[in-house]
Amino acid sequence: MAKIIDGKAISKQIREEIAAETAEFAKNSGFKPGLAVIIVGEDPASQVYVRNKRKACDEVGFYSESYELPAETTQEELETLVDKLNNDDKIHGILVQLPLPKHLDETRVLLKINPEKDVDAFHPYNVGKIMIGDYSFLPCTPAGVMALIERSEIDVCGKKCVVIGRSNIVGKPMAMLLLHSHGTVTICHSRTQNLASICKEADILVAAIGKADFVGADMIKEGAVVIDVGMNRKADGKLTGDVNFAEAEPLASYITPVPGGVGPMTITMLMQNTLTAAKNKVK
Ligand code: GUN
Repeated sequence: MAKIIDGKAISKQIREEIAAETAEFAKNSGFKPGLAVIIVGEDPASQVYVRNKRKACDEVGFYSESYELPAETTQEELETLVDKLNNDDKIHGILVQLPLPKHLDETRVLLKINPEKDVDAFHPYNVGKIMIGDYSFLPCTPAGVMALIERSEIDVCGKKCVVIGRSNIVGKPMAMLLLHSHGTVTICHSRTQNLASICKEADILVAAIGKADFVGADMIKEGAVVIDVGMNRKADGKLTGDVNFAEAEPLASYITPVPGGVGPMTITMLMQNTLTAAKNKVK
């Protein structure tokens, strides 16, 4: 029987800490941390995220702006808005919701964001800083996973860690953060041979593949910590992870549920990064 890592409860606790720090910061500095969120087009999932981000900002006492731009927005219009926000003293963090519509060049947009306001840590400058272990911002989802691991008092040092997935947003930075915590890290992906046997050796298994119920009993070592980053919609509209929870739970020592595991942590870490950006500005 695994211990369930309650992402909702841990997230609530961290947001309360951020709210208290924000109140103290605002009292001393005379201004609130400010976050701008840009969304282009009408992807319903992205619209939900943006709404949740705005709510989270209100909850912790931040100033926030949201820009919901039409799908036909041009590269130039988007970059002009990013530039305006780069030069806006009320805004300390800028987030451009991904994916962008196909006609827009994501890399060029991310390069436009001032790295000091890059609260997603997607700018190549911040990605490079993560690689060398010297960073102001951590990408929100991997940072959320590390916070869940730390607050559950799970020791990563010397452990075999396997990350399934090699995306720039999750897999790659996740592997780097586990490495910085002295884990012995393997990254697996769609071309990996003997995937199940590699996963079955993991003390800490992080699934970030984007395929519902992909990780089954044959991939989990008894006593492993299983972290599920997946968020997949089933035909009935219900949210499900990358891990087959019913099969994994009896084997794991700790496991994150979906929903209520990693999901709530992502926005919480965004709040953390925005507060850090505001504090860095004062420094
Ligand atoms: N789309 C899915 N996850 C993320 C994220 O963490 N940040 C941004 N900007 N877009 C996303």
